[in-house]
This record gives sequence, structure tokens and C-alpha cells, in this order.
Amino acid sequence: MTQTKDTILEALKSVKFPGLSRDIVSFGIVKDIITKDGVVNVFVDVAARDESVPGKIEDEVARTVRALPGVKEVQVHMKWTQPSSAPASPHSRPEPSEPVLPGVRTKIAVASGKGGVGKSTVAAGLALMLQKLGLEVGLADFDIYGPSVPTLFGIHEKPRVFDNKILPLDRNGLKLMSMGFLVEPETPMIWRGPMVHQAADQFLRDVNWGELDVLVVDLPPGTGDAQMTLSQRIQLDGAVIVSTPQDLALIDARKGVAMFQKMNVPILGIVENMSSFLCPHCNHESHIFGHGGAEAEARRLGVPLLAELPLVPQLVAAADSGDPLMAIETHDVLSAAFQNMAESVAQRIGLIAAQ
Ligand SMILES: Nc1ncnc2c1ncn2[C@@H]1O[C@H](COP(=O)(O)OP(=O)(O)OP(=O)(O)O)[C@@H](O)[C@H]1O
Ligand SMILES: [Mg+2]
Repeated sequence: MTQTKDTILEALKSVKFPGLSRDIVSFGIVKDIITKDGVVNVFVDVAARDESVPGKIEDEVARTVRALPGVKEVQVHMKWTQPSSAPASPHSRPEPSEPVLPGVRTKIAVASGKGGVGKSTVAAGLALMLQKLGLEVGLADFDIYGPSVPTLFGIHEKPRVFDNKILPLDRNGLKLMSMGFLVEPETPMIWRGPMVHQAADQFLRDVNWGELDVLVVDLPPGTGDAQMTLSQRIQLDGAVIVSTPQDLALIDARKGVAMFQKMNVPILGIVENMSSFLCPHCNHESHIFGHGGAEAEARRLGVPLLAELPLVPQLVAAADSGDPLMAIETHDVLSAAFQNMAESVAQRIGLIAAQ
């Protein structure tokens, strides 16, 4: 029997990333397979702090491919990089083997290379539509510099504590928790740096989310150490990148994609926000910031373009006064776009079956 790239890739789906339940193919670390006359070359790029990981993967890949009928020889080419972000202090960092957020099946981040592109709006809308698919959903706002959940949802009460655990707030079954609830808004910026880690640890350790299918995480904007450390602690299953159509935002979005790829977090797709202007009176769509940039970028990076969300004046008004989620729910174009986005994301992380 002759093995092809596809049959070998299929077989490699049985190889788990050491210490995790995820397989190396879905992790996206198998970069290429070349097979000729029974000689198979497998190229694997792995980023891991633990230096025993590449060896373990190499052995397991070689063993798996060698066991396939028709394979005479296997060469595994490993490329190993150690993530460069500084680890947090050893006693505050959860051990990789220790499960973070038990009871939460999957964790996805909504991130952006730069601020103000609509990341929090997308995170909230995505969480809402995932819930409408029948999933148990939580929204965790980790953006300590500009916590959005209190504003987005008009919630200013403090969450309750029960049995030494913080209970998330509830909006029609959607569970909400914000760094803004843990840190007073008046806290001077200069104190916030170390508090980010402390509050993040508290978030991961002390919030009782119950059983969730998916936790949507609103990360702080940017691609620095704080974002990397948080992403690593949360042990993300995937990331959605939000951008606006302008070139500068797209350049930053590219940095966001690169950051997650470096940490082996699968990119679920790119969302272009404020893609066009939708006139509230005549529904005419104008591409005021240009068009097609995010689509081209997504194609270049080989990731899906999850949505092109128009700029909707009702949403601006709702953000200040009322309930932006209500604005999303009741706006035909926005709600359809968010629903599509939620379906693609849920499929890609295996929460619902592909159609
Ligand atoms: N598609 C849209 N149409 C109209 N207004 C929008 C849209 N998306 C976001 N906004 C508005 O733009 C502002 C910024 O959005 P949001 O707070 O979601 O961005 P962000 O990327 O989370 O910002 P920050 O970096 O400050 O956290 C908000 O007032 C929001 O209501
Ligand atoms: Mg925000």
C-alpha cells in the first residue's frame, strides 16, 4: 500500500502533544510531509519550554509512521524553539500539568494587535451567539487596562463570593466575569502591572465557572509579554484576531497572529470590524476605510476570514447608553454575521460537528 501525505497526516492525528489531550496535527505543528518510494520525511515545528518535548514527539511520530504499511524509512525533522516570554514567578504560575479552569471544556481568546478596534464588542457578541447555539458559555474580561464587561453590560455590582469562590455574574445564563470587578478603576496604572498577574491568577484559581463548554476571553490589546503570559496561563484552545480595515491595524493583526502561532495556539480566524458603514436610514453600505485588506491578509496567513462587521451607528449609541448585546441581537446584519462567526468557531474547536 502506498502512503500519501493525507494518509500519513491522518495517522499522525493519533500522536498527542506530550502532557496534553490535543493531537499534534490539530495543533498545526506538522508543517510538511514528503513521501517518495516508501521513504517519508516529516517536518515538525514545535515551540515548548520543556526540552524533553521535541524528543518525545520525534519518537512518537517515527514510531507511528514506521508502523504504516508500505513505509520503509522515516526521517523526522524537528525544529524546536523555546518561547521567549519571561516565565512568571514559580509559585504563582500553574504547573503545565495542572489543569487550569477545571470544568471549562475549551478556552478561546479574542485578541487584537492594537486597541480600540472592537475586540470587546466582538468577544461579547461571539459569546452571546455561542450561547444561542445551545452551549454553556462564559465571558472573561482579562483586559485590566480597560475592562469592558462592566461597561458593555452596564453591570457595576460586585460578584458574590460563595464557599471561598467568586461567582460570575449572570446575563440570561451567560456567565460574566471581569478584571474590573477585582481591581478598583481608580488604581493607579503603576500598581496595575504586578496586579495583572495577581488578578489573573485569582481569576484562574478562584472563580467558580461551573461547567462551561466554552470560555471566551477578552485579552488586553497588543502583543507584549503581558498578553503572552496570560495566554500561556489560560492554556488557550484557539484565538480570534480582530482588526479594522486600515493597513496599520492589519500590520498589528499580523503581529497578533504571529504571537499565537509562536505559542502553538491555533488561529480560528480573523474578524474585520468596522468593515463598511451601514446607513441606518437606507441600509446603503459604503466602504469608508477601504476594502479587502483583511480578506487578503487572512488568505496570506491561511486562516479563515470569520466576518466582516459593518460600522453600525446603533452600536455606538448602545455602548454609551444601554445594552450593546441587545443592539447586536436586534440588528439583522450584525446578528447574522455574529451567528456565522460563532458557528465557524464552534466547529473549529470541535464544540459542534461540521455540517
Ligand atoms: N461594528 C461596530 N459598529 C459601531 N460601533 C462599534 C463597532 N464595533 C465597536 N464599536 C464601538 O467602538 C468602540 C470600541 O469598541 P470596543 O470597546 O469593543 O473595542 P476594544 O478593541 O475592546 O477597545 P479597547 O482596546 O479600548 O479595549 C465602542 O464604543 C464600541 O461600541
Ligand atoms: Mg476592550
